Amino acid sequence: MTDFRSARRPAIALAVAIAVVTGITAQRAAMAEPRDGPTERVGPEFREAMHRYAIVDRGDGKVYDLYVDPRTLEVWRSQRRLPDGAIFAIESFAPHADGLREASGHLVRGASENDVHVAVKSTGWGREDVPTSTGLLFGQPTEDGRWRMDGFDPRTGARTPDLDIAECHACHLDRRAEDFILSRGLLDRFARTGAPARITFDCLGREICF
Ligand code: HEC
Repeated sequence: MTDFRSARRPAIALAVAIAVVTGITAQRAAMAEPRDGPTERVGPEFREAMHRYAIVDRGDGKVYDLYVDPRTLEVWRSQRRLPDGAIFAIESFAPHADGLREASGHLVRGASENDVHVAVKSTGWGREDVPTSTGLLFGQPTEDGRWRMDGFDPRTGARTPDLDIAECHACHLDRRAEDFILSRGLLDRFARTGAPARITFDCLGREICF
């Protein structure tokens, strides 16, 4: 029995060593991922694949749905950190043609504007992937990686042409201390209750008024 165990030990050590090396290689491969962008990480199925954590009514009649991926929600809930691979998405809806409201007072939404905005964090993206001068700042690396922002058409997954990424940064930089995610309070509410936070921000467009 003793002989058998000691004979097995080197084999186990070898197996562990191989597993460790394979793990490191896999990690390297993940870090040296191809130069895709945020829109390759989120597709038309985002509504089913992610949690809708908030619904925002705006003073101009627009409604926004905010989404987070399930793993990020879990990490946020237990560690209050937004990990490598975090995905946030926001879909905007035009004002309802007749300006209708629900009995609760919330806005009835019009059609999707078919331009979903996304922010995706990855350790695999370098400085060169965050294109503008503010982008360099926006993309300061942390142990969880950098954010990249983009937009896509939810019907096809096609990238929004000519999106002005510097404009995205201009607003989101405002909350640098909160890792650039503006709706963390709403994410918190969802993490606590499991129900999408429904809120009215009585200012226009995406102006920050909270
Ligand atoms: C005028 C300011 C402004 C601009 C420009 C802007 N955002 Fe935002 N963004 C906001 C606000 C405010 C929220 C929170 C939801 C709300 O109040 O409607 C938000 C929410 C988001 C969210 C959900 C996560 C979060 O931070 O709360 C994503 C993803 C996002 N924006 C991506 C983008 C992208 C991509 C662009 C550029 C194409 C962009 N944003 C441009 C203000 C802005």
